Amino acid sequence: MSNAPGSTKVDEAVGRRRILVLFAHPSLERSEVNGPLAAATARVEGVTLVDLYAEYPTFDFNVDLEQERLLAHDALCFMYPLYWYSTPAILKEWQDLVLERGFAYDAAAPALQGKVFFNALTAGGPEAAYCAAGYNHLTIRELLSPLEQMSRLCGMVFLPPFALFGARTAVEDGRLAGHIADWVRVLEALRDHRLDLAAAAPRTKLNADLDAIIRGA
Ligand SMILES: Cc1cc2nc3c(=O)[nH]c(=O)nc-3n(C[C@H](O)[C@H](O)[C@H](O)COP(=O)(O)O)c2cc1C
Repeated sequence: MSNAPGSTKVDEAVGRRRILVLFAHPSLERSEVNGPLAAATARVEGVTLVDLYAEYPTFDFNVDLEQERLLAHDALCFMYPLYWYSTPAILKEWQDLVLERGFAYDAAAPALQGKVFFNALTAGGPEAAYCAAGYNHLTIRELLSPLEQMSRLCGMVFLPPFALFGARTAVEDGRLAGHIADWVRVLEALRDHRLDLAAAAPRTKLNADLDAIIRGA
């Protein structure tokens, strides 16, 4: 089974992709952008939104349930505010416990083979800071290297992150509504096999010139 972008199991199959979004925000009551993004996500048909901090406030994962959720979907998205250049802690714990050897890797039939994996994140820092010449030195995609390699080891098709920079001023700058509209458009295109995975794969972020990677309405 090839795991090259554009050749996923589901691309060859009939029907929509089922998308699982694992949402992680440890203080949702203070969120300005992830709360509305999560609410919009939950309204997209064919998308399952799981609020990890709400479901597992003490990190006591039901590993069997989490693995069943993975098996029941064709694409997996981690959705979160960027915390110290990475995910909030619960997503790391989820990986450590759910992506078991014999299930996700070192398995005769790796459970995630051919499924799509990507991140939808918000960052307080400006986009200009996320490059070699900026104060964060690395691009957002480079910072997510462990997640990219995690997905590749599991045989998944990695897509670059769907990212909102300058998140703390997005509401007052009037950028949030457009970002949410773009997000819904990407989810619907991925679901309906209208997102060009091969064209999207090399990008630093997914949400640049969506018209170039999304076919049709
Ligand atoms: C503990 C913590 C760590 C953070 N680390 C980063 C970071 O590494 N890079 C960055 O750009 N923003 C960082 N931020 C800012 C958040 O990413 C930003 O506040 C968030 O994306 C806003 O989303 P919200 O309104 O849904 O909370 C951090 C914020 C907190 C509280």
